[in-house]
Amino acid sequence: MGLFASKKFPRGPSDGLNRWTFGPLNSTPLEYFTHLAHEYGDVAGIRILNFKTIFINHPDTIEQVLITNARKYSKGRVLRANRHVFGEGLLTSEGEFWLRQRRLAQPAFHRARIASYAATMVEYTEKLLEGWRDGEELDAHQEMMRLTLRIVGKTLFDADVERDAQGVGKSLELLLEIGADFRRTIFVPHWLPTPANLRVKREVAHIEKILYRIIAERRASGRDAGDLLSMLLAAQDEDGSRMTDKQLRDETITLFLAGHETTASTLSWAWWLLAKNPAVEAKLHAELDAVLGGRAPTLDDLPNLPYTNHVITEVLRLYPTAWGLARLVVEDDEIAGYPATKGMGIAMAQWVVHRDPRWYDAPEEFKPERWQGDLLKRLPRFAYFPFGGGARQCIGNTFALMEAALVLATIAQKFRLRLVAGHPVVPLASITLRPRHGVRVMLEQRHPAIERDTSIGAQSAVAD
Ligand code: HEM
Repeated sequence: MGLFASKKFPRGPSDGLNRWTFGPLNSTPLEYFTHLAHEYGDVAGIRILNFKTIFINHPDTIEQVLITNARKYSKGRVLRANRHVFGEGLLTSEGEFWLRQRRLAQPAFHRARIASYAATMVEYTEKLLEGWRDGEELDAHQEMMRLTLRIVGKTLFDADVERDAQGVGKSLELLLEIGADFRRTIFVPHWLPTPANLRVKREVAHIEKILYRIIAERRASGRDAGDLLSMLLAAQDEDGSRMTDKQLRDETITLFLAGHETTASTLSWAWWLLAKNPAVEAKLHAELDAVLGGRAPTLDDLPNLPYTNHVITEVLRLYPTAWGLARLVVEDDEIAGYPATKGMGIAMAQWVVHRDPRWYDAPEEFKPERWQGDLLKRLPRFAYFPFGGGARQCIGNTFALMEAALVLATIAQKFRLRLVAGHPVVPLASITLRPRHGVRVMLEQRHPAIERDTSIGAQSAVAD
């Protein structure tokens, strides 16, 4: 029997899951969900006060909730409870309204459109590197946050948020940190004047001010920058009405929040994992040096950098920045033989599924090589789902993968990031999964031409 072989709940007469665990969804949800999966297998019941949630841990049931019976589910309580932050943006809205907004925003994320963002991604990364010095110590996570915020600002809103980046970054970070307290988010109404709620209000107001300024500047200029903001501004309903400033604010704050911290954290985990796995790092360097030879990468290079892409795929397996998803049952369903009744919650955790030995050999190991063959094709659809799935799948997945690969390739050619001894790198499962205290590193400048001569062994390993 494998680690995850299930000790399922006995069926009860009234509700199938009759041994609801009183789940302390506290400060260590990663351990908590891992424990649930070990203890109960593919399906478990969690109760927090009178809220019942079914935790599902098998790709087939996840597919049922996200795709097959998706219409029976809406977004979960945590996201709904954060509506005062996200408003009716893409992440939180539902039904017809969501569909309309998704159709409006979709063209900004089409492959051809995204291709035009590649140059900006590389240019901004190179600008960041101009400030980096050999031997310098810094927090790689802070640097990645600043970079991805600027990239999202420029590519989607044609706004140079450099002057605002620090303020916006800090505010977004605080929101995510406060949002990490699930019990508070779910059980404390957002209008109560608690210190945390007042803080959220202040930070939201700060970001809003900047967003409204960007919107007003664009409206005033009437300029078509060909970016997402222009598309949203130009979009018309059948009755000719356009999006209000409030709607625009909801979409932009959603994209800023959803679109920068996730990719930044993916890159932070990548630097940490690479530094801890020198053999992987050497292979990555060998591929970059052989294909790029020191020049900046372009979009056309990405198909020729398979190992770089496998590194990103593997980082998102082990440290999926969207570490869990939640839904609310809006129409009765049955999951693995148990009734999922209206009002119950559903939880699923990429963190747990991605480390399940039924799908992955040596699941705790960082092994980009595992993606070299046809693993992705052989896996059940939802054994790997860093971007969710179904209609509500991440709209920014192609954007994020391209950005992560280009930033990684640009930086890894020039610098090796060495971990600073004694600095604890621990995951914080907030709405996203990020390094709680950042990732402190010492920069070591690379000299690819010299290293190329001494890395023939690593190069042949890449070719294998
Ligand atoms: C590595 C980076 C990223 C990860 C891991 C990630 C993950 C996810 C996941 C799992 C969802 C689905 C949530 C659910 O079903 O409840 C989602 C939705 C979403 N993501 Fe991402 N994301 C990333 C990057 C981005 C980027 C770069 C953008 C935009 C520039 C973005 C914008 C969105 C939006 C707007 C949604 C809501 C889509 C909808 O419901 O229609 N994400 N993301």
